[in-house]
Amino acid sequence: MIAITGATGNIGSKIAETLLSEGQRVRCIARSREKLAALADRGAEVQSLSLADTKALTQALSGVEALFAMIPPNYQAPDFLAYQEMVGTSLVRAIQAAGVRYVVNLSSIGAHLPDKTGPIRGLHAQEQRLNQVEGLHLVHLRPTYFMENLLASVPLIQSMNIMGSAIRADLPMPMIATRDIAAVAARRLAQNDFSGQTVVELLGQRDLTMAEVARIVGRKIDRPDLNYVQFSYADTRKALVDMGFSDDVADLFVEMSRAFNEELIQGHRTPRNTTETSFEDFAPVFVRLLHGR
Ligand SMILES: NC(=O)c1ccc[n+]([C@@H]2O[C@H](COP(=O)([O-])OP(=O)(O)OC[C@H]3O[C@@H](n4cnc5c(N)ncnc54)[C@H](OP(=O)(O)O)[C@@H]3O)[C@@H](O)[C@H]2O)c1
Repeated sequence: MIAITGATGNIGSKIAETLLSEGQRVRCIARSREKLAALADRGAEVQSLSLADTKALTQALSGVEALFAMIPPNYQAPDFLAYQEMVGTSLVRAIQAAGVRYVVNLSSIGAHLPDKTGPIRGLHAQEQRLNQVEGLHLVHLRPTYFMENLLASVPLIQSMNIMGSAIRADLPMPMIATRDIAAVAARRLAQNDFSGQTVVELLGQRDLTMAEVARIVGRKIDRPDLNYVQFSYADTRKALVDMGFSDDVADLFVEMSRAFNEELIQGHRTPRNTTETSFEDFAPVFVRLLHGR
């Protein structure tokens, strides 16, 4: 049995679909029963629970050989690192109590660093917590910046014909489609071919600057004049709070943007950590969102 946390999210849902199509026995974990229903229809066992509920999570992990473990985002958390610690500790306790032996842990690029990386600090701490579980075979997936993050610019494209964030326009950055992360995770979970503690960085198809991203999106959506604008850290913080993020989460996201801009967070590209989906392959989702097709 393979269990998937965050099973209705970007990555978890794609892992579940892949494993179900291969005929694997899959147990999907998330809170919303409604969203889980689609996976149940496809043959998954489903468990509706909060990862903070260690007792329920331990029961849901009973009989599980391999687990995809993630700490989901909670952008309203007043103290985001404390939230990550609470969910991360609950996951580790349940893994130990249920005797799960193989875990693919969703971490992040930059998780080797203990500090100055915003929300990635909590993923660094989670790697350390899992590493201390005796006898556990672990793969820490460290994907780079998700291409899906760029969809947050859709309202800006509609209202101001720009894309924007706090990231420098000219910074070459690895970017990955979540389907590529899911493909690697599904393969590792199905094969159970790892032992000890392994780190796997995942860097997408190539590095891109935000200026290039805007040019590619502009061509796809017939707005060749679409430009990327780098926002100040103060404006970014305010925009995040206006969107409903807590003050603490907004501060952490600004800290992470700064860490990218100052090249503190960097990938080291090799053929092994380069994945398939190009930004050109991903970009049609902008056409669907902006033109409804
Ligand atoms: N964005 C990036 O560039 C980036 C880069 C590297 C790593 N990451 C990592 O990737 C993670 C996000 O992955 P994703 O995009 O696949 O997630 P996502 O699409 O936001 O999905 C979150 C999933 O977790 C479930 N969930 C949320 N809170 C829960 C709770 N308290 N208990 C149980 N289930 C809960 C959600 O379903 P319900 O709401 O129904 O429970 C959903 O299935 C981040 O948290 C970060 O750690 C992100």
